[in-house]
Amino acid sequence: MTQDNRTAIVTGASRGIGAEIARQLAADGFAVAVNYSSSPEAAEAVAAGLRSAGGRAAAIRADLADPDAPRALFDAAEEALGPVGVLVNNAGVMKLAPVAASDDALLDVHLALNLAAPLRLMREAAGRMAEGGRIVNLSSSVVGLNQPGYGVYAATKAGIEALTRVLAKELGPKGITVNAIAPGPVGTELFLEGKSEELVGRIAAMCPFGRLGTPDDIAQVVGFLAGPQSGWISGQVIRANGGLI
Ligand SMILES: NC(=O)c1ccc[n+]([C@@H]2O[C@H](COP(=O)([O-])OP(=O)(O)OC[C@H]3O[C@@H](n4cnc5c(N)ncnc54)[C@H](OP(=O)(O)O)[C@@H]3O)[C@@H](O)[C@H]2O)c1
Repeated sequence: MTQDNRTAIVTGASRGIGAEIARQLAADGFAVAVNYSSSPEAAEAVAAGLRSAGGRAAAIRADLADPDAPRALFDAAEEALGPVGVLVNNAGVMKLAPVAASDDALLDVHLALNLAAPLRLMREAAGRMAEGGRIVNLSSSVVGLNQPGYGVYAATKAGIEALTRVLAKELGPKGITVNAIAPGPVGTELFLEGKSEELVGRIAAMCPFGRLGTPDDIAQVVGFLAGPQSGWISGQVIRANGGLI
């Protein structure tokens, strides 16, 4: 990567893991497009924090469930910050239901945001990124855990892992790496919503470290996969979960 393409797009960066990834990449010298859908104040606050720490950042609204949004997001990021060298597909949704109780609305929202949007964004990246580019996708350790209730969510994340491996082979000749990170449970809104304190404690206790992951645990790995030291790593899924699985 050159000085000319040090812009990173982080989808779903208004809070949770994405906000921390934005901070990590800004600290690593990237100009960061802080994507959000419905939380403008939070996204503006993340971008303002990056700028006040000396970085370059812009909050960019794009509802990634809209098929036209990925292209518009790339256009807006390039216009505001310059050529994109890093794409982090972080935005995601997780609604739990046994397969037998899952309806089409639940299926559609997962497919749209967790699978179709990252695919469209990778398609944009494939056409626009120069040599040295980096794509990092957020999967989940539930792909390995296979717990009841996680079927639809896990299916979309398994799809992302498959796309990661295929695209790594397609983009290798262009000098672009494609990897995924599969976090275990991290104490964000997505994970905590609808869970009792007791259940959260039980899930934390399943981890050999006896705690949930933090957004920073994940952001540091993304920083590595987006950085110069990981140039020979592509098509891989890194499970960042404290040894859970
Ligand atoms: N937390 C965990 O335990 C865990 C574990 C494994 C994997 N992951 C994965 O890590 C990623 C981040 O999860 P998180 O826990 O940080 O989630 P989170 O706290 O719920 O944050 C989700 C982010 O996605 C954005 N978003 C939601 N719908 C969007 C849309 N239609 N278009 C654009 N952005 C949208 C939200 O922004 P707005 O509010 O502006 O819409 C928010 O910034 C997800 O892919 C998730 O599957 C999380």
